[in-house]
Amino acid sequence: MAMAIYKFLLLFLLFCQFGQKIISSDEQKTPTHTLQEAYDALGIKPNPDGSLTREIRIPMVNATPNIEPTSTTQIALSKDIPLNPFTKTFIRLYKPLNPKKNSKIPLIIYLHGGDFVLFSAKTVIFHEFCNQISAQFPAVVASVEYRLAPEHRLPAAFDDAMDAIIWARNQAVCVNGGDAWMKQLVDFSHVFLLGSSAGGNIVYHAALRALDLNLSPIKIRGLIMNQAYFGGVHRTESEIRLSEDAYVPLYVNDLLWSYALPKNANRDHVFCNPLMIGDLGKIRRLPRVLIKGDEGDPLVDREKLLAKFLKGNGVQVVSIFNGGGNHGIELSNTTAAQALYDAMKDFILSTIN
Ligand SMILES: *[C@@H]1O[C@H](CO)[C@@H](O)[C@H](O)[C@H]1NC(C)=O
Repeated sequence: MAMAIYKFLLLFLLFCQFGQKIISSDEQKTPTHTLQEAYDALGIKPNPDGSLTREIRIPMVNATPNIEPTSTTQIALSKDIPLNPFTKTFIRLYKPLNPKKNSKIPLIIYLHGGDFVLFSAKTVIFHEFCNQISAQFPAVVASVEYRLAPEHRLPAAFDDAMDAIIWARNQAVCVNGGDAWMKQLVDFSHVFLLGSSAGGNIVYHAALRALDLNLSPIKIRGLIMNQAYFGGVHRTESEIRLSEDAYVPLYVNDLLWSYALPKNANRDHVFCNPLMIGDLGKIRRLPRVLIKGDEGDPLVDREKLLAKFLKGNGVQVVSIFNGGGNHGIELSNTTAAQALYDAMKDFILSTIN
C-alpha cells in the first residue's frame, strides 16, 4: 500500500516536472515548450542534486603535443597545462607547427562556446578552430577549460578566465620558469581575448575586470566577440523573429540563463545584459573590439546593441554583421569559417600595426 502511494507520488512529481511550462519573464507572447523539450534539445538530464548529466554529442579529443610525421593535416601542436588545482581548470595551449624562426607572435586567450552549460576546450569543433587560428594568424592560442553551469554559476567562468589572464601575465615574467612555447614564441604586448557565443560574453566581463589589475608587462590589445551570447528581460526583434531557431531557440535560452545566472537573478543582470554596466568610465577604457554577428542568429540584435553602446561610449569597435547564417555557422560551414578567420586576422594585424 505504502509502495503504491509512493509510486503514485513519484509519477505525479515527474508529471509536474515534465508538464511544467517555461514561463517567459517578458510580456511578449512566446511559444511555450516543456522543460523536457529543452532538456532534449540540449542533450542534458538534470540530477536530483542540481547537477546535470550531459550527453557527449560532439566528441572530445586529446591534445597533440608531438609532430606526427605521417599526418598530412596537422597544422598546429597542442598540450594541456593545469591552470587552477582548486577549480580543476586547465589551458589547452596551441602553437603553429612551423613557426617562423626568431619572430614573436600574439597570444590569443580563447573562451569556447556552449551556452555556459555545455562543451569543453577538448570538444573537437573548438579544438579544430584553435588549430586553425594558431596556424593561420599565426598565434599561440590558450584555450581555457572553464567551469560550467549550473554546477558553477556565473561568475565562475569569469573567474576562470581571469585565472588564465593572470597565468599569461605570470608567463611573461617567467614565474616557475615559464612554459617553453610561451617563452619562445609569444609577444606579451600583443594579447587578445577571443570568445565565441558564451565565450564572447566571458571575454566582455573578463576584459572589464582586467581593467582593475596591473597586468604589466602583458597588454590586452583587443577583444573579439564572435556571436556573443547575451540576453535581457525584454525580447529583441531577432529573438522574436527566430524564437523557434534550430540552434538557440528562445525556450532553450530561457532555461540556459536560469542555469547560468546567480540564483534569483533575472536576465537584466549585468552578466546577461551587457548594457547594464554601471561604470561607464570603465567601458571607455576597453581596448579595441571586434563584434561579429549573423542576421540568421536570434542573438544578433543584442550584438548590434552592444556594438552601438560601446561605440557611443568611445570604444573603437569594428563590427561585422553578415546576412543569413546561423548561430555557430563557422563550426559547420568552411566558407563562413574562413571568412571569420580572415576577419579576425585583419582585426589583429590592424590593431598591432
Ligand atoms: C556557407 O557560408 C557562406 C558564406 O557565409 C554562404 O554563402 C553559404 O551559403 C553557406 N553554405 C551553406 C551550405 O549554408
